[in-house]
Amino acid sequence: MSTSKKTTSKDKVTVMTAPGIQASKGVQKICCMTAYDYSSGIIADASGMDIVLVGDSLAMVVLGHEDTLSVTMDEMIHHVRATSRGVKRALLVADMPFMSFCTVNRAVKNAGRFMAEGRAKAVKLEGGIPVVPQIKAISAAGIPVMAHVGLTPQHIAKFGGFKAQGKSAKATKTLIEDAQAVEEAGAFCIVIEAIPVEAAKLITEAVNIPTIGIGAGNVTDGQVLVYHDVLGLFDRFTPKFVRKYAELGTASVKAFEAYCDDVRRGRFPGDKNTFYMPDDQLAQVRKIKVKGKKK
Ligand code: KIV
Repeated sequence: MSTSKKTTSKDKVTVMTAPGIQASKGVQKICCMTAYDYSSGIIADASGMDIVLVGDSLAMVVLGHEDTLSVTMDEMIHHVRATSRGVKRALLVADMPFMSFCTVNRAVKNAGRFMAEGRAKAVKLEGGIPVVPQIKAISAAGIPVMAHVGLTPQHIAKFGGFKAQGKSAKATKTLIEDAQAVEEAGAFCIVIEAIPVEAAKLITEAVNIPTIGIGAGNVTDGQVLVYHDVLGLFDRFTPKFVRKYAELGTASVKAFEAYCDDVRRGRFPGDKNTFYMPDDQLAQVRKIKVKGKKK
């Protein structure tokens, strides 16, 4: 793939770390994108992304499930490991799937698997005050934790669907308490999803760690979007907060249509795509007698 920029021995590659990301609050905006395999990891990394997240959105955009609940730890590890082979500079974060952190023991064990088997550099988990013990224990094991509050898709059954959260003063107060609790527990940053911009501003001001928004307006310390949404590769639905930067789904269908057309009309493969016999062999090849086809 021709995505890598040419580097010389003098070029310094700054490898992103969790403490580095944490220190960028108030200094520069943080760019985060999801990716799910080697090639999408290479593309996200080559673009200068600070964080690459192997999100459990994988369940929907890659595996075709209705929601994020059915993806397993083993499936996630398979994709995190593949993505790690393509991501050399950005901080690689693995998303802990539904029920993988419902007890402290399970949380530490599974976060450890993401680091050892998946080669991730941090993990993300959904929830606020209720998951503080898990965040403390994972951090104590030396694993950086990205928290996630607001619309947490693993709780859609409780929310009644993919609905924006924090729309009242009471809900905003709870979100601020959640954000402060996860910071206190040791999280190095927090994703805040689908909440009003006013609530996002208050949360961002209430914590010392960076907030990474998705559907939280332009007041957070960084932004995250889903790879397939940005590139126009997932058309089942497009949330209001997505900006499509390309239409690769449509472009890919057009490219494949052109290929089918060429194959059907005998225009592919062409000369340039064809291997030819060396001259010294050609005369002998012509002498080969092929028996008739068996009926
Ligand atoms: O799973 C995911 O992709 C996420 C991001 C949208 C933050 O959690």
